This record gives sequence, C-alpha cells and structure tokens, in this order.
Amino acid sequence: RAQMAAHSMALTEAMTRASDFYRAQLRGATNAITYLKGRGLTGEIAARFGLGYAPPGWDNLRSIFPDYEAVVLAEAGLVIDRVDEDGGNRKRYDRFRERVMFPIKNTKGQVIAFGGRVLDQGEPKYLNSPETPLFSKGHELYGLFEARQAIRDAGYVLVTEGYMDVVALAQMGFPQAVATLGTACTPFHVQKLLRQTDNVIFSFDGDKAGRRAARRALEACLPHVTDNKTIRFLFLPTEHDPDSYVRTYGREAFEQEIHEAMPLSQFLIKEAVGEHDLQSPEGRARVQFDAKPMLQAMTPTALRLQIVRGLAQLTQTSPSEIEVLYELAKPVAL
Ligand code: UTP
Ligand code: MN
Ligand code: MN
Ligand code: MN
Ligand code: MN
Repeated sequence: RAQMAAHSMALTEAMTRASDFYRAQLRGATNAITYLKGRGLTGEIAARFGLGYAPPGWDNLRSIFPDYEAVVLAEAGLVIDRVDEDGGNRKRYDRFRERVMFPIKNTKGQVIAFGGRVLDQGEPKYLNSPETPLFSKGHELYGLFEARQAIRDAGYVLVTEGYMDVVALAQMGFPQAVATLGTACTPFHVQKLLRQTDNVIFSFDGDKAGRRAARRALEACLPHVTDNKTIRFLFLPTEHDPDSYVRTYGREAFEQEIHEAMPLSQFLIKEAVGEHDLQSPEGRARVQFDAKPMLQAMTPTALRLQIVRGLAQLTQTSPSEIEVLYELAKPVAL
C-alpha cells in the first residue's frame, strides 16, 4: 500500500514535470501558436487549460528527465519502448512528438494523462496516453477540473466528445463543458456527472458517430437517472460539433440549442419508434419491443412511469399492460 502510494506519487510527479515542459515549449512554438489562434483560441484560454506543445524529435523529454531510462516514464505512458524483432536492442522514444498537448487532470487538478493533436492532416489526429495506474479512459472526463465551479454556477454540465469542443466552448462563454475523450459515455462517467450537478446535457457531434454516442449515453444513464435529475440531449446539424457550431453560429444560437435540448424521455421514445409504422399492430409491437430493454434498465422512478404512459398512448395499450408485458418491478410504496 505505502509502496503503491509512493509509486503513484512518482507517476504524478513525472506527469507534472512533463506538463510543465510542454507548456514551456508552447511559448516559442510559432507553428503551434498559429494553429491555436487559427482555431480561435486566446492565450488566456490556452493557459486556463494548460495547453502545451510537444516539439518534433524523438527524445526531448531527456532534457527534463536525467534518468530517461527510468521505468516510471514508460508506466506513465510518456515514452514508448520498442524491442527489436530479434529481442535484442531496446529503443526508447517520446510518445508525443510535434503535437499540441491537452493535459487531462483528475479532480484534484493533477495531470494524469495527455491528448496530443497533430497540427496538420497527420494520423492519428489525436494521440492519447495509454491506460496507466493514474488514468482510465472510461472513468475520466476531460475538463472536469477546470469546469467544476462553472458547472455549479450554470446549474448544468455540457458533455461533449472532444478536447477542442471543451476548450472552444469555454472560449465562447460556456465554461461548463467536459468531454468523454472519444470513448462512449460509460456508467462511471454518468455517476461522476450526476455527483456534480442535477442537470446533464449531452452535446455530441452531429455525425453518425455522434448519434451513436448519444444512444450509448442514453443507455448508460438509464440505471442512474432519478426523479431529481434531468438529462437532455442536444442534437447538432450533421456537419457540426459544438466547437464548429458555436464558431459558425455564435454564442446565442448555441444558447438556444441548449434551451431546446431533447429530454431523455423524448429521446428514449424516439429511439424506440425509429422507422416503425405506428399505424400497424406489427409496427406498434415492434416499438414496444425496442423500448423494452431501455425501460427494464431504469429503476422504478416516476420518470419511468411517465415514459410508460407515453409509450402506452403511442402504441394503443395501457400503462399497466406494458408493465405486465415488460415485467417491470412495481414502484416501491412510499
Ligand atoms: P473528433 O474527430 O470529433 O475530434 O473526435 P474533434 O475534437 O472534433 O477534433 P478537431 O476539432 O478536428 O480538433 C472527438 C474526440 O475523439 C477523440 C478525441 O478525444 C477527440 O477530441 N479522438 C479522435 C481520439 O482520441 N483520437 C483520434 O484520432 C480522433
Ligand atoms: Mn467526430
Ligand atoms: Mn472538432
Ligand atoms: Mn468533433
Ligand atoms: Mn427499431
């Protein structure tokens, strides 16, 4: 235990040092600065998020880690060890090269991982830290540390897909945004979000992947939504993400989108209805079939009852028939 703690301290220390290095490197990097300015960011916002730059070169971290061969650097995901085919030579090099660096912080504000974006069309567009003892993708939300007070002030959190969405929204007056880091929104994310606020608004990209992400987020929310929580979904035009939308249409247009975001109940029913024909018994049965696993994932809440009622009306059944059909547990008597 004590050894574990000492070890994670060494990891945290390494991450902090790397983060300081990348931030310092951004100062002289005109290409990276030009890139960030081109995306509408000010120096102030870059500083707020601790943005940095990993310069080109294979072992720049050597300059800040005298023991570049230390095990901790590989464990932190800062370097990569490549072993030759014949198992002979081990060659170590910096993971992040020639990228704009986004530090990912835990709720204490400690840097636990990085995302690095290429400045051009290179692949991958974003390179992330691997899973490490400090960092588990499915648990962390980018920008949560920076957004905490703003979430309290606004009374809601905006959940986006990407680093740039969070930073651009903050720049445009929506500092209450976080991102799921390109993974699906997990139940861990949902629980973390609901600990911060009673109101969650998901705002994923308008493309197919974003729509799928919204569906996954819906499913992750169902077991955790309670009657004192409101979860909504903001759907953007196909070609936009929150960053591009707010830049194209401005702050007020996005404010309006937030205002009109679709409540979870409506999204669930919309997903169940899909393309099915509500005019035919088969279509209505199919809608009930598609809604079943979603309603079964919910706990017995007043909201579930409301959704059952809506669904009953739409499919020409009664709420109690649906409850029997789905074997929904009876709400506990208060
Ligand atoms: P997007 O492709 O939507 O990126 O991926 P973006 O944030 O809009 O990127 P910009 O605007 O072109 O800079 C959404 C998120 O998915 C993860 C990142 O967290 C990204 O922000 N992602 C994407 C990766 O981890 N790796 C990738 O290669 C691409
Ligand atoms: Mn996308
Ligand atoms: Mn984008
Ligand atoms: Mn995007
Ligand atoms: Mn269907």
